[in-house]
Amino acid sequence: MVSEPLETDEWLNFAKSIATYAGQMMVEARNKAVFSTDYKADHELVTSADLAIDAYICQQITQTFPDHVILSEESSPKLALAELANKPVWVIDPIDGTVNFAHGHRHVAVSIGLYLCGERVLGVVNAPFLEECFWAVKGKGAYLNGERLFVSQQTQCRNALVATGFPYDKSTLPSIIRRVSVILTKCQDIRRNGSAALDLCWVAAGRLEAYFESLKPWDMAAGALIAQEAGATIGRYEPISSPWPEAINGEALLVSVPALYEELLSLLSQA
Ligand code: IPD
Ligand code: CA
Ligand code: CA
Repeated sequence: MVSEPLETDEWLNFAKSIATYAGQMMVEARNKAVFSTDYKADHELVTSADLAIDAYICQQITQTFPDHVILSEESSPKLALAELANKPVWVIDPIDGTVNFAHGHRHVAVSIGLYLCGERVLGVVNAPFLEECFWAVKGKGAYLNGERLFVSQQTQCRNALVATGFPYDKSTLPSIIRRVSVILTKCQDIRRNGSAALDLCWVAAGRLEAYFESLKPWDMAAGALIAQEAGATIGRYEPISSPWPEAINGEALLVSVPALYEELLSLLSQA
């Protein structure tokens, strides 16, 4: 456990300010329809807005904190793990919910997390079309537009609304479908909203009881801290196999209200 760095407030204000501007870039690109679409790794949708926002955020970080490290989805997705050791690492998803963005859906966000010495330090998730900015600092609670957030008090699986997502790579689909099936059977209903970062924030806001999916670090670095600071329990329904450090490893992530965590874990891990 590391003590909170003195610079946390400065880092938070910086992250909120670049997330706000990034949100404006997103809205403008969408409203003026000035973006193009492409595919990376054959099947992952990426737009010119993803790339422009990624470049803006990385440039702001490099300019303001030249000694910090950046792990961003579009420009530095395979950072050597050794580099993550003892410097502040900004973990960036410029547009979480690219498919939603490209189709004109409003459930889209920019996600900015900060990771240091094995721990998540802060997270900002800004959803510009919804005018909702979520943020959290480790040990200081989670907030939505300045209002403190707490997870739902639900104690019954049959009343629980659970979100998930589906990866671009469809090779793991059979096990995903088994998990979706068991959750649909035992819980109230399931949602696939299209932005993992926002799903995590929605658990924090008490709009969902739980969320599960296998993610990349940039999908979850900020949202996991926001959910945790609002009182959610975080764990995994399968052992991890990817080499990312624990705090930013999104593999087999289960984020739930504490009262339902063990039951959901058992359902998902046995499915
Ligand atoms: C995706 C979204 C989606 C989740 C996918 C992610 P992207 O991120 O978070 O909800 O189901 O696994 O890849 O590509 O829109 O940044
Ligand atoms: Ca993402
Ligand atoms: Ca993205």
